[in-house]
This record gives sequence, C-alpha cells and structure tokens, in this order.
Amino acid sequence: MKVLLIYRHGVKQPRNPWPDGPENITQCPIPAGTSFTQELSFSDEEGTLWWHAHSDWSRATVHGAIIIYPKPGTTYPYPVPYKEELLVLGEWYNGDVMAIIDEALETGGDPNTSDAFAINGQPGDLYDCSNASTYRLLVNYGKTYLLRIVNAVMNEEIFFGIAKHNLTVVGMDGGYVKPINTDYIMITPGQTMDVLVTANQSPSHYYIMGSPFADTTAPFDNTSTTAIFQYSGNYTPPSTPYSPSLPAYDDKDAAGNFTVRLKSLASKQHPISVPLIITERIFITVSVNQIYCANESCAGPDGNRLSASLNNISFVTPTIDILQAYYRHIRGVYNCTFPSIPPYFFNFTGDVGNNTIYPSQGTKAKVIKYGSAVEIIFQGTNVGAAENHPMHLHGYSFYVVGMGNGNFDFKTSPKTYNLVDPPLVNTIGVPKNGWTTIRFVADNPGVWFMHCHLERHASWGMDTVLIVTNGPANTNKMREPPAYMPPCAKS
Ligand code: C2O
Ligand code: CU
Repeated sequence: MKVLLIYRHGVKQPRNPWPDGPENITQCPIPAGTSFTQELSFSDEEGTLWWHAHSDWSRATVHGAIIIYPKPGTTYPYPVPYKEELLVLGEWYNGDVMAIIDEALETGGDPNTSDAFAINGQPGDLYDCSNASTYRLLVNYGKTYLLRIVNAVMNEEIFFGIAKHNLTVVGMDGGYVKPINTDYIMITPGQTMDVLVTANQSPSHYYIMGSPFADTTAPFDNTSTTAIFQYSGNYTPPSTPYSPSLPAYDDKDAAGNFTVRLKSLASKQHPISVPLIITERIFITVSVNQIYCANESCAGPDGNRLSASLNNISFVTPTIDILQAYYRHIRGVYNCTFPSIPPYFFNFTGDVGNNTIYPSQGTKAKVIKYGSAVEIIFQGTNVGAAENHPMHLHGYSFYVVGMGNGNFDFKTSPKTYNLVDPPLVNTIGVPKNGWTTIRFVADNPGVWFMHCHLERHASWGMDTVLIVTNGPANTNKMREPPAYMPPCAKS
C-alpha cells in the first residue's frame, strides 16, 4: 500500500527535520488508514511557498500553495495590490501517474510525459473539450493584482506570460527580489514567483499562458496551457483571447537572460547575509547517465538503464529513513562518503568517457559542521543530453552568487560572483552545460535532502543528503523526535 508523505517545499523547519517529509530520508511513510499531524516550523520565510507529497511521483497531483504574509506591523516592499491570486502550474494525466514512473524504472527508459500542462488544474482552451473549464482570472480595469505562481510541473521549466500585459516580478521562493519588469518569466519546477500585473489594457480577454522550455532532446509536450485574464465590464470579447508571444520552447538565451536578472532586495528592511569567507566548499557534478542492464536489454541508451547522479554517485533510497539511522546510530543505512569533489575530472561540457557515463550507486551523505559557511558549485556535465537541473535543498534558502556557461574555472569564475545582491532561493536551475554557485550558512542542524526537482532525474538518483551536525548550544541542536511521528513499521 502506497502512502503519502507531505513536504512543505521551502519551509525551513528550523532544528526540526523530523516531519520534513521525504520518504525514507527523514521519516517513514504514514501507514494506510492512519493519520499524521504535521508540524510546520517557519523561520524568516515571507511570500509564497508550497507543499507537495514526497513519495515517488505522488506530488504530480498532491500539492498546493502556502502563503506567508508580512509580520504584523510590516507590509510588502511594493505597492499593496488590489487583490491576490494564486496560479499553480501543473499537469494533467489521463492515467495513473504512479504507473508512469514505475513502468519507466522497470524498463530503464524515459517516463512518458503528462497529457497536458495545466493552470490551476485546467489544461485550457488549446486542448480538446477543455474550454468550458478554462481557469478565468477576473480583473477590474486599472487595478493591480499580485499573482502567486507555483511551478508544480514534474519535469519541465516553464515560460509564462499574459498577452499584452507587463509583469513585474517582486518575490520568489518565500522571499523578495528587486522588481523585474518583463513580458515573460521562466520558472523552474519547485520555484514560486510573486508577480504584479496591472489591468491597464483595453477591457477584453487575454490568454495567461505557460509553455515548456526544453533546451533538449528529452521528450516533452510542447502544447501550451492557458487561462484567461478577463476584464469585467461591457465589451464584445474576441472570439479567441489574445495570445502572448512567449519565447520558443528551445530558447536557451531567453531562459538564461531572465534568470540572471533575479536579485535580492538587499535593503535596510531586507538585508542580505551572504557568507564571504567559505569554510566548506563542495564541488558537485550533475549528470544524467546509465547503468548497465543486467540480463534483459533495457529501454535506455545502448540497451542500458537510464540513471542520474551527483558526483557520479546515483543515490539509492534506503528502506529505513536516514534521519532515524543518524539519530539512533543504526548502521548500514547510509554512509558519510559523499565526496566534496567529483571522483573524475573531465570536460564537463561533453566528455562522455566511460567513467562518467556509468556512475556508482550508493546512499552517501555529506556531513557538514554546524555553522560552516558553505559554498556548493554545481557543474552541469551535459552527459546524457539532459535539461537544466533545478537543484533544491531542504531546510534552507541559499544565495545564488554565480552562474555561467561551460566549465567552472576556479581562477576566473569566482571573479564574476555577485556578493552584493544575490537572490535568496531554495531551488535554482543549473545549466545542463554550465555551472551555478550557491552559498549559505549551515545553521539548521538535521538531515536535509538535496535533489534535482525534475522528478525523473530525482527518481534516477540525482539526489544526496546533507547532514548538518548539532551546534554547541541547546538552541542550535536538532530537536528530539516528536511523539507524533509515524512508526517505522515493516512493510
Ligand atoms: Cu519540492 Cu524535496 O522537494
Ligand atoms: Cu536534473
């Protein structure tokens, strides 16, 4: 019996990884027919986050938004909108989504794509027989709306826009950013964005549209999903709402150009605290690769099984949760040998030597001392013709201090870092043949999952676990396991 675990993506759970959610990473599944009360612990989040199931592919349909308003007595760092609206980008499956990944893992091939993309659960007018239920956002002329956008899609980055309307991005991943004026955004799975839009065009019907960005040969469904930005009042609507012109599905520059514009507010009210002196530097290669198919021939490349890895280790999910094993010193569940540098140095933008095609498999965690100033350099290897990788870390937000194409260069790349106003996020795209550097202070003790938020990559092993040790004071030690945790029953 499959049971769900719920994860509040981006909710930091200070010192309390116990109810964090990912199956067999921090807790055992909730037995069927029982209930489980989860405890949410926030620290400094403000804006939009979301929650989703974290067991196999159940998050495809089990997800929702979390909105965190400014503290009493404070307000938004932007003009207060007339109204707020939630837009969740998701997918529609005609069949059982769990069967899709089960089948893919069995054959070793690529999982099937969904049957449609959706906005607030509705595919929209461009799909057959869907117009009656297309989501409509009703607006009044002259008013400004705050759109809280969540990308809950499983495997694709999404371009998003509204015909003829300018967007102003003001927040992201439960924090604020310097306003960005743009006609489209690019939002990667796992991310949230807060966007202002003013209804200042002639009253009519305009498409709100989401289209996948897929700079790749990987399968995707390039059909756009639509909702309608619909003005109130008396007018004759066009037979088809106006359409935005979004970048083409493979427009890498459009995707990259948007992402590099994201900056923190770095203001008096919202200061930044990016670590400047690094005490723990980790270099992680991010690859899609293959595992030999034992007897039968598999549906992956060369009759092999598709897999994915970090530092050439394809993560194997244990059967006892790692947090439990860590806390109770249970041996044989995981080991602490996740390397700080990749085992193989190679040309990260195309070397397909055997060393990098075939990762090793294991449950390896990286232990980080409490209080360390951590820098992680993610290097996309472009092995396996993958897509950009939305890397996500539980328990933390991190500063994205740098990003570039090609191979990371220890001499020149750090000179391009932004240490003045880097964005603070919990998920960031690592270019498939480029690099991204993040920084954070390891001040949240516990066991924290880190993985690609493209679900098929996570299923193939593009994951690891950071274990942040306890600090010296009681206030920086992990909490004791709460009594409400589900028991780890034998399955
Ligand atoms: Cu939103 Cu571990 O994921
Ligand atoms: Cu990935």
